[in-house]
Amino acid sequence: MEVIYQLNDIQKVYAGRTILDLGRVEILRGEVLAVVGPSGAGKSTLLRLLNFLEEADRGELLYEGQLVGTTLPLAMRREVTTVFQSPALLQDSVETNVAYGLRLRGIGGSQAAVGAALEQMGLAHLRKVPARTLSGGEAQRVALARAIVLHPKVLLLDEPTANLDPYNIGLIEQVVRDINQREKTSIILVTHNVFQAKRLAHRVALLLNGQIVEMAPAREFFENPRDLRTRAFTNGEMVY
Ligand SMILES: Nc1ncnc2c1ncn2[C@@H]1O[C@H](COP(=O)(O)OP(=O)(O)OP(=O)(O)O)[C@@H](O)[C@H]1O
Ligand SMILES: [Mg+2]
Repeated sequence: MEVIYQLNDIQKVYAGRTILDLGRVEILRGEVLAVVGPSGAGKSTLLRLLNFLEEADRGELLYEGQLVGTTLPLAMRREVTTVFQSPALLQDSVETNVAYGLRLRGIGGSQAAVGAALEQMGLAHLRKVPARTLSGGEAQRVALARAIVLHPKVLLLDEPTANLDPYNIGLIEQVVRDINQREKTSIILVTHNVFQAKRLAHRVALLLNGQIVEMAPAREFFENPRDLRTRAFTNGEMVY
């Protein structure tokens, strides 16, 4: 498989503390990569780097073979979209929220695209409803609809099903599978839920204290990990 992101000895430092120290990491085109690890491990920070929202303090990040920095063209930056950990919706209707990214990009005549994204997320009936009246699961689905309507090449998901009920979890997981299979979207999924990683990911990475302890095909990661800490984490036995 082709490499879409190449990370070479990336370090991120906040206030003198090294938050990420990643060595050499390759993320592959078309894969679903789950990133698991305890709170504070650096998972969201990693997604911010991958979405070009922050720069590393050391090392190199290449996206599609191009060094990421101020020179990465806007068109390439826009290929990557994140659904953040606690997504904020506009104080407006559901459909306005979903159309928002398209409008920012000056894409007109987007009604059909918005309709399709709402349909895919099971939100068609809530199209006109004010976003502030939505339940947590519905709001999370709007955030995902707002991302998928852009048809990103890379979709970064930060805990997309945290605090949701089984129905919403199932629906969101199905959409993740569908867009990965049908649109070949590369997906990096940050999750606390090892079962979700098992259900969705081709490969899984365990991040501990800013370092990747193990990154392996899902089967190997769960059934035959190389690192004892991986087993402890997947068995829920890790103390942190
Ligand atoms: N802008 C910032 N300034 C200073 N420290 C930060 C900043 N952003 C993150 N950190 C610190 O970096 C560490 C990693 O944070 P990060 O949000 O990446 O963790 P996480 O793995 O996503 O955790 P969680 O599972 O709780 O979301 C934390 O200790 C956090 O306090
Ligand atoms: Mg986080």
